[in-house]
Formats: sequence, structure tokens, C-alpha cells
Amino acid sequence: MFSSSVNPPEGRRDVDEHPADSPRAQEEAAGMSGFLDGKVVAITGAGGGIGRAVALAAAAEGARVVVADIGVGLAGEDPKSEVAEALVAEIEAGGGEAVAVGESVTTLAGGERIVAAGVERWGSIDGVVAIAGILRERMLFNMSEDEWDAVVETHLKGHFTVFRAASAVMRKQAGGGSLVAFTSGAFAGSVAQANYAAAKGGIVSLVRSAAAGLHRYGVTANAVAPVARTRMSANVPMDLAEMGDPEDVAPLVVYLLSDRARHVTGQVYTAVGPKIAVWNQPREVRAVYADGRWTPEAIAERLDSTVGQERMPLLDQLEAYRKAAEEKAAAAGSA
Ligand SMILES: NC(=O)c1ccc[n+]([C@@H]2O[C@H](COP(=O)([O-])OP(=O)(O)OC[C@H]3O[C@@H](n4cnc5c(N)ncnc54)[C@H](O)[C@@H]3O)[C@@H](O)[C@H]2O)c1
Repeated sequence: MFSSSVNPPEGRRDVDEHPADSPRAQEEAAGMSGFLDGKVVAITGAGGGIGRAVALAAAAEGARVVVADIGVGLAGEDPKSEVAEALVAEIEAGGGEAVAVGESVTTLAGGERIVAAGVERWGSIDGVVAIAGILRERMLFNMSEDEWDAVVETHLKGHFTVFRAASAVMRKQAGGGSLVAFTSGAFAGSVAQANYAAAKGGIVSLVRSAAAGLHRYGVTANAVAPVARTRMSANVPMDLAEMGDPEDVAPLVVYLLSDRARHVTGQVYTAVGPKIAVWNQPREVRAVYADGRWTPEAIAERLDSTVGQERMPLLDQLEAYRKAAEEKAAAAGSA
């Protein structure tokens, strides 16, 4: 059971137009109110996978939802407007309110139209969740310029476009707002995904910059690094140690959008199955000083024994995968 402490900003239309027999009207009659009642939330990539689960959960908690999706394939091909429209119909059939926007997140004009759809229809934009994403995997030495640009534009620029448009509105609102980004554990490094990993790392830095710059305006910015069964994770060539469903990720996003999370900003949370984990903030861990200016020779003599390195956990993981694959192949050969 949730109780809402949401006070809609002045000028916001706050009329409930649900028929008395709709699920939401019944919930309200039973004294239950949603975690996001009165909030207007735009969700990119809401047509499928994790975005769809987040949009349904937000609507079920009382949010009015801008469903932004261009209905593309995994690599960003074959756009279809029906995907966003079908989800809006589903939300409305369940007694919720939603509007479809078939705009790509890759241009600032597109980001502005996504945000404007919420503002024009319901008078504000209280949350933006940037989930839209594509994959174009290739080893760095073979990656084309187009593969790089398409992935960085969809993920990193696709966060900038909606965050920029929304924060311009949120900074003037009494209630501020929430920006929720979607990064990935790949931001710490990934083998055949230099474009994706770089974009996801950029998103983490964007979130920290937004959190720092917008704190005084009551606008929070956080990132979620999910793992969930979708067409995107079906592509991962190895077995993931932890796995869950999109519906396991949605409650954390709903929380981050709510008034209960107004104090949470600048964070990166992993969400997978029943687990939520927080990532550390990057900082210097050790330092060594020269007497005067360093020379390459002095660095070669002293670096290993002083500051040394911070070993990449991914290198050890890859080594373990390689060994396991070799052992499996050897066992199959001797069988
Ligand atoms: N599934 C996982 O395990 C996992 C792991 C780490 C990170 N993520 C991240 O979570 C997010 C969602 O992933 P998913 O697995 O649900 O993927 P998905 O492929 O199922 O869904 C992505 C959605 O984004 C939409 N989209 C793509 N390009 C768009 C554009 N330019 N404009 C608007 N919409 C666009 C697609 O049409 C699709 O509906 C992505 O950012 C992904 O990188 C997912």
C-alpha cells in the first residue's frame, strides 16, 4: 500500500476522468493511491523490453505517461509507429492515461517534442526516463563510423536531448523533477561494444553532471544499470551470473520518479531480479609525488611500487571464461 504526498504544482490540471468502474477508479474508491499520482512522466524506448515494463508500472502507480518509441529492431532498423500506439491503448484500457510520440531521441527537436507532448497535454513534466537503445556490436578494429555514430546518438545523445528539454521546464516548476538514465555494467568495459560501452560511460558522467548542475533547482538525476531478459540481453554471448525480468527493474524506476526519492541524486544503481546495488563514486585512490617534475624514467622506476594499477575486474572475468571454454572443449574432445 502506498500513500502519496504529491501536491501538483499550481496551474496543473488535476482532474481524474476515469470511468467509475475503471481499475484506477476502483483502487481510488478502495482508498489506495498511486506512488506517482498526478505526475507526468516521459519514457523513451517505452514500446518494448524494460521501457514497456517501466511505462506500465508508472501508469499503474497513477502517472500520466508519454510513451516515446519509434518501434525499431535491435540495430535501429525498420521503424514502426504502432508499437507506441499499442502500449498507449493498453494503458488506457487499464484505466490509465498515456500519449504516444513516435519521435526518435536522436535529435534535440525530437527530444523537445517528446517533453512537449506531456507539457501540452497535462501541464508539466515531472519525470523523464531515457531507456531507448540499440546495439551494433563489432570489435573496435572493425567498427564502422556508422556503427559508432548510431549507437552513441541513440544512447548518449538520446539522453541529452530529453534531459535538456525536460530540465528547462523542471527548473521552473515548484516540484522540480526527476531524470532517470539507463546505463549498463558495460560502462566499466565491454569486449565487442566499444560504441555501446563508451555511450553508457558517457551517460554516467552526464548523470553526475546533471545531478550537480540541477541540485539547486530540485531536479534529481540518477542512472539504472539493469540486467533483464529482453531481446537485447538475448544477444549476450555468455551466461550472465545474475538475470531477471523487466518487471524486476520497473519498481526502482518508479521509486526514483516519486516524491519519496527527492533526496536521491547522482547515483548509479544496478537492478537485476531481487537485487539492487549501488555503484561507488569515482575518486583517486593513491598518489605519489615527484621531487619537482616527473621524468618517464622516474615513473618507470617508481610507479609499480607506489600507486601501481587498479586491476580491471573484467580482464579476470574474461580469463575465467576463456579457461572454462577451453576445459569444456577439452572434455568434449576426450569424451
Ligand atoms: N536488457 C538488459 O539486460 C540490459 C542490460 C544493460 C542495459 N540495458 C539498457 O536498458 C535499456 C532498454 O533495453 P532493453 O533490453 O529493454 O532493449 P529493447 O531492445 O528491448 O528495447 C529498446 C527500445 O528502444 C526503442 N528505440 C530504439 N531506438 C530508438 C530511438 N532512436 N528513439 C526512440 N526509441 C528507440 C526500440 O524501439 C525499443 O522499443 C537500453 O538502454 C539498454 O542499453 C539493458
